[in-house]
Amino acid sequence: MRVTVLNGPNLNLLGTREPSIYGSTTLAQIEAMLREEAGRLGAELTFRQTNHEGTLVDEIQRLPGTADGLILNAGAYSHSSLAIRDALLAVQVPFIEVHLTDVMQREESRRRLVFSDLALELITGLGPEGYRRALQTLCRRLSGS
Ligand code: DQA
Repeated sequence: MRVTVLNGPNLNLLGTREPSIYGSTTLAQIEAMLREEAGRLGAELTFRQTNHEGTLVDEIQRLPGTADGLILNAGAYSHSSLAIRDALLAVQVPFIEVHLTDVMQREESRRRLVFSDLALELITGLGPEGYRRALQTLCRRLSGS
């Protein structure tokens, strides 16, 4: 089972970025936690972060043939990017959308998610644990159990 984890803008700053909202766990710590979980689940993990919308589109376009599933936290692009929506529709790779925070309880502008309807599941508000849940759920769904 090959799983790609894609993180969008500003998630490289986790740990120091608005800790009262996003907590103190760094993206490297999230990656380490996921690698451990992937080991337990027998999954092969690719972990990426970019601040650029076009790079997220490039990464999504590369998924067919290289990944069986995707975990996506596109950060602020989740609220606006039709380019990412189009890429997800084009590749048809099953994905789970993750947000560290409960976006539905935040500002009005964050309540609109422009591709979550395409996701197998939307996981919000669980902090870093949300990524682990996403990996477990994705592996379970991909293996058909
Ligand atoms: C986020 C929520 C987005 O609204 C925000 O722009 C982020 C992080 C989250 O993980 O909670 O960058 O995706």
